Amino acid sequence: MDAVTEGSGTSTAPALSADRLSKHFGDRVAFEEVSFEIGYGEVFGFLGPNGAGKTTTVRTLGTLLTPTSGSATVAGLPLTPENGVEIRRQISIMPESPGLYLRLSVLENLQCFADLYEVPAARDRIDDALGAVRLPDRANDACGALSKGLRQRVALARALLNDPQVLFLDEPTSGLDPVAAREVHDLIDGLRRRGVTIFLTTHRLDEAERLCDRVAILNTALRTIGRPDQLRDELFARTLTVRTVAPIPEPDHVFLGVPGVAGWHEDGPSTYVLTVADPAVAAPGVTRALVKADADVLSITVSHHSLEDVYLELVDNDVPVGRS
Ligand SMILES: Nc1ncnc2c1ncn2[C@@H]1O[C@H](COP(=O)(O)OP(=O)(O)O)[C@@H](O)[C@H]1O
Ligand SMILES: [Mg+2]
Repeated sequence: MDAVTEGSGTSTAPALSADRLSKHFGDRVAFEEVSFEIGYGEVFGFLGPNGAGKTTTVRTLGTLLTPTSGSATVAGLPLTPENGVEIRRQISIMPESPGLYLRLSVLENLQCFADLYEVPAARDRIDDALGAVRLPDRANDACGALSKGLRQRVALARALLNDPQVLFLDEPTSGLDPVAAREVHDLIDGLRRRGVTIFLTTHRLDEAERLCDRVAILNTALRTIGRPDQLRDELFARTLTVRTVAPIPEPDHVFLGVPGVAGWHEDGPSTYVLTVADPAVAAPGVTRALVKADADVLSITVSHHSLEDVYLELVDNDVPVGRS
């Protein structure tokens, strides 16, 4: 089965799913009752603070750990011990640390792992993987001589050796400088275009917002799941912020008669935050009301909440992780 055909909608089975999946280490809860479905070709962001259970989720879905309870499907296959070999054939995990042999060259590393994974037509796969991460001209460099960003690209090439349908990337840009992180982002975009389903863990919100079709926010339990813009709309009321030169004497009188304005509060001197159903509908009326009231307007702006606002709202108000 190839991922590109799947992505065009020939199958309705999810690429990955979890149903009330939990993993405990003794008394410690790594993650609890996590449920989601991810379609083929989707780039799915798994966000959460340190210790939230992201890596443990990846290791569990990647057949490296046995779940404590719940069920899952990976690359369309039920996550069971009997399916372990077949699942591992269809997926790849790029772990947090690259784990390369530093004294060996890039090519030797890839040859070594291709042997280990028993990759058929290894030479072609290695060339493809090197091409995909744009490293062919560094093939003979020792991995130890490469920058952290380049090593991360070699690790990505290694993860591509088996031409996975589902690729798990565990904090792929952690510790990289902005330029190297940007290169990894571009490579992930390239994989998306090839139809690879990507499960990306990160605590970088800009990364999730830029790369992911949908995101889940995990803090041991799943806090929310959806498209970044959808999450913003669900969590935050839409607002208009009005700034005036001097305080408005009777704000109730000015704002509450305007169609589409549900309420208002002051947010600093001469700054009024209006709750509105649709800023595009309310703003013209608000402007007219302000002019009529002789208010000297400095600005009227529509609020913009970032994924970071969503994340902080959900995670900051949560109980600290790591306590069971
Ligand atoms: N092998 C293990 N044995 C015991 N506890 C573990 C093990 N692996 C992870 N944990 C614990 O599970 C929790 C989640 O860890 P982890 O999945 O690494 O989080 P994240 O990747 O989100 O930072 C943490 O409290 C961590 O200490
Ligand atoms: Mg981790």
